[in-house]
Amino acid sequence: MKRLIPLFTLALIIFACGGGEETTASEAPGETPAQAVAQDIDTKKIWKIRCIACHGLYGDMGTNGAANLQESTKDLAYRVNIITHGSENGVMTAFGEILSPEEITAMAEYTMTFNKNLK
Ligand code: HEC
Repeated sequence: MKRLIPLFTLALIIFACGGGEETTASEAPGETPAQAVAQDIDTKKIWKIRCIACHGLYGDMGTNGAANLQESTKDLAYRVNIITHGSENGVMTAFGEILSPEEITAMAEYTMTFNKNLK
């Protein structure tokens, strides 16, 4: 039984560090989202590896019917959801198992920078 205590403590520490995913939907998107900077997430790199094939470098390529992100007015919550679970028609990949929640939020914010009319 004694041997379990350090394990339990470790689990607690990991659990304690895991929180903090809450984000406010009203945060203004910038070139590099604040959260990405804080967590050292390279949104541009993730974009080039994971998203560019369908959305293109500037978000408007539309391969496989990908939404034009320069025209999209979808809110942050919608974006976080579609990035996590993929599109309903199954064309867009679900990234919930590939990216961390922090990365997904950062990518959702990043996609909002393509539409110059969004603030
Ligand atoms: C295999 C192609 C594909 C890849 C890869 C892909 N997407 Fe998509 N994406 C789509 C399609 C198709 C839609 C439109 C789905 C729909 O409307 O049902 C979409 C929609 C979206 C939307 C919603 C925009 C709107 O107005 O509906 C966001 C945000 C988005 N993608 C972000 C991303 C991000 C971030 C990545 C990389 C982590 C990514 N996508 C990778 C195909 C892709």
